[in-house]
Amino acid sequence: MKLPHKAVRISDKVYWVGAIDWGVRDFHGYLTSRGTTYNAYLIMAEKPVLIDTVKSNFYGEMYARVASVTDPANVKIIVSNHSEMDHSGGLCRAVEDMKPERIFASAMGVKALAAHFHHKYNIEAVKEGETLDIGGDKLSFLESRMLHWPDSMVSFLQGEGILFSNDIFGMHLASGKRFDDESPDWHHEAKKYYANIVLPYSDMVLAFLRKFQASGIKPRIIAPDHGPIWRKDLTSIVDLYVKWATQKPQDRAVVVYDTMWNSTEKMAAAIADGLMAGGTRTQVMCLKSHHRSDIITELLDAGAIAAGSPTLNRNIFPTMADTLTYVKSLQPKNLKSLAFGSYGWGGEAVAQVAAILNEMKTQPVQDPIKVQYVPDETALMKCYEAGQTLSKALKEA
Ligand code: FEO
Repeated sequence: MKLPHKAVRISDKVYWVGAIDWGVRDFHGYLTSRGTTYNAYLIMAEKPVLIDTVKSNFYGEMYARVASVTDPANVKIIVSNHSEMDHSGGLCRAVEDMKPERIFASAMGVKALAAHFHHKYNIEAVKEGETLDIGGDKLSFLESRMLHWPDSMVSFLQGEGILFSNDIFGMHLASGKRFDDESPDWHHEAKKYYANIVLPYSDMVLAFLRKFQASGIKPRIIAPDHGPIWRKDLTSIVDLYVKWATQKPQDRAVVVYDTMWNSTEKMAAAIADGLMAGGTRTQVMCLKSHHRSDIITELLDAGAIAAGSPTLNRNIFPTMADTLTYVKSLQPKNLKSLAFGSYGWGGEAVAQVAAILNEMKTQPVQDPIKVQYVPDETALMKCYEAGQTLSKALKEA
């Protein structure tokens, strides 16, 4: 017997028909510590519309939620705002089961869906600004390219004022609650989502928000494809996107390191002491206990990174290589930097860390600090002073 999953009404005609993934912990390299939701929506217009689907293994849950409102065969239109498989994984089964009259995606989405599913369906491309009459209400479409895939678009239900924003304004947060005002602890997960998914496209975020403002669309509800639906405080998440996209440096530093025999750890602590003595809010993060996705989250509103690695077999320590590769790909901006680390003989890792910080276009505040074997008081004082130098540079930024 199938579970009687129920839809959740979010407005007069619109229902949440998504799925809750309580157990997922990896989202292409991002630690989703609190699971996620795949939000799909059913618009009960004269021509019922399904906006997006869910990850394929959650299709049954979505189908049951649709069936709790109407016979799924009544769905006449499916809109795919984004081809990534957490939203399109159920598309082919939905088309087979519901037999919609029309299916829509952006022009890039049409190509991406074909390349994913090698399907036989006629998926129609909607144009930027195009409006679709669904009987009793209208849907309009705006491209949101590179937020965060080339095919991404958003849909707006004009009469009810609901923006289906796809990944934009979303977060990975599994919950039995569907709305922002029922989920007061959303801030960290929204920040983590931005840092790990949206950050490289920050310029596009600002351009999209400008375009959106110019369109005159004023949503009453923002319904993203992950996490809570924004019905109470829409401006706070929009304002946070502007802040995060701008990445104005703050007097905050992240000291990230790994260690073999605690020498690099001692250096990290001395650098942090120097930073804090200068009045800089400092987060010290050892990679034995912090995931790469937490490092980039802390860096989102920091002004500096100090990165330390011991040398292992002439190379950067594996956890630091992993983290810096990931962080570099997300392109944080406006960071001061300091490379440091201990070594036994070759000592190559510190230069490798410095090279990656350089590739990240961070601004080093001084030469890297290298210590052979175990730092003595003099070496630790150099680290402390480097922390103070970094703090001073942040004040002058
Ligand atoms: Fe939530 Fe880009 O998919």
